[in-house]
Amino acid sequence: RIIVIDFGGQYNQLIARRVREANVYCEIYSYKTDFEKIKALNPKGIILTGGPNSVYEVGGPTYTKELFELGIPVLGICYGAQLMSYLLGGKVETAKAAEYGKTDIIIDCPSSKIFKNVPTNTVGWMSHFDYISAPADGFTITAHTDNCPVAAAEDEEKKLYAVQWHPEVLHSIHGKEVLQNFVYDICGCVGDWKMDSFVTESIAQIKEKVGDGKVLCALSGGVDSSVAAVMLSKAIGNQLTCVFVDHGLLRKNEGDEVEEVFGPEGHYDLNFIRVNAQERFYGKLAGVTEPEQKRKIIGEEFIRVFEEEAKKIGTVDFLVQGTIYPDVVESGLGGESEVIKSHHNVGGLPDYVDFKEIIEPLRDLFKDEVRKAGLELGIPENLVYRQPFPGPGLGIRIIGEVNADRVKIVQDADAIYREEVAKAGVADELGQYFAALTNMQSVGVMGDERTYDYAVALRAVNTVDFMTAEASEIPWDVLHKVTSRIINEVDHVNRVLYDLTSKPPGTIEFE
Ligand code: XMP
Repeated sequence: RIIVIDFGGQYNQLIARRVREANVYCEIYSYKTDFEKIKALNPKGIILTGGPNSVYEVGGPTYTKELFELGIPVLGICYGAQLMSYLLGGKVETAKAAEYGKTDIIIDCPSSKIFKNVPTNTVGWMSHFDYISAPADGFTITAHTDNCPVAAAEDEEKKLYAVQWHPEVLHSIHGKEVLQNFVYDICGCVGDWKMDSFVTESIAQIKEKVGDGKVLCALSGGVDSSVAAVMLSKAIGNQLTCVFVDHGLLRKNEGDEVEEVFGPEGHYDLNFIRVNAQERFYGKLAGVTEPEQKRKIIGEEFIRVFEEEAKKIGTVDFLVQGTIYPDVVESGLGGESEVIKSHHNVGGLPDYVDFKEIIEPLRDLFKDEVRKAGLELGIPENLVYRQPFPGPGLGIRIIGEVNADRVKIVQDADAIYREEVAKAGVADELGQYFAALTNMQSVGVMGDERTYDYAVALRAVNTVDFMTAEASEIPWDVLHKVTSRIINEVDHVNRVLYDLTSKPPGTIEFE
């Protein structure tokens, strides 16, 4: 495996993904991780990430020099490159002007192993103030730019490599080659980490860990919990119990679809329990309009329902969580905070469910890898590629009070929207899209009669990480079709609006 030591760079996860795309297993550890631990992992190579600090900053992120004496190849990227040079006796200075964005790079040493298949003139993504002004002893300068005398340097004998630009970013034209050269040619990795072997190995590990124990899983029908449940069921069959709480705030027919796949008539051998708690949730939500209060009520009620079901089952040995790798990394991987984050993921479940240990079968996977694992496990594509759906469900897509009638309106409108988008073949281009029910009623005319009904809002966004988003450009004719179908087919709707707000200042959901 390759280990990425994270110094707080914004692209840290991207580095690990690129390495995994080369079929080499890769993990990220904080720079605070003990040297002995890194050593014990015995990685084939180590990559030091970028970061926002300067190497001269007192108390700034650093690492022990011993890292470079292990005989393990090290690649330093941006801050990682500066830190490597600085720790080994080179010189780092602050430039008068930052170098940012696509930058022309001249490779001075085309025979370097790290630049195999990289032309002498290439383009790299730069993002730095500080630069290496003089490399450490034993290092050769292997690339430069107009503003940066040492854009890359290496000590071939010690297998230490420093690059100032970011090969993990797609704007770096030959970045993929640089990373592949490092992991294959320099570290000697063979690239045999594949999803099918990951799935097989995980199933074997789960089998061994669980033995004849009992396992409980909260299934939401979303991608992560579905993939986790199927992996568990392949490993331990009906020692697994899956509880699926239908809170009445799912998309149209979604509850039945989940039951079809996971229920007794479905494809898997597990104890599937569907709790139809619709009325209970609507009861709690009656008359409530404040968004945060609605979210709280839904979250709390979910816990209560799950708790009751768990009590019926009694003590279980393991509780499954669909934690995925980004959650782990964001919590400061390898550090003490891991467990805390896991608890947060399920809204405090471990406090009241009687279990001995948590199983997180997806904690090593990125979202797209979870999907690949899902396909590998034979989960239907429509489930694997399901768009993200918030825990509070349609509750936060209905502005104002939530009740059965209003849920039906938004379910029907949303189903039409999704059907037409799919028919038009534009679904893959959209990050997330859905219909919401506004709290606005307005005047219209239908069949010569005055109407006074609701407005449905359509939202569609393009986003990479859901932190920022832009309104998608859905073809006009598709929007026309959706609008006329909603007005004609959904009772109590006489107006359809398209939301063009980006995030920020808007959010993706309405509440
Ligand atoms: P916002 O509305 O904050 O949404 O821009 C960003 C992403 O997060 C999802 N979302 C949630 N997911 N529980 C979830 O599991 C929640 O309470 C929740 N609120 C928002 C939203 O669907 C979008 O993908």
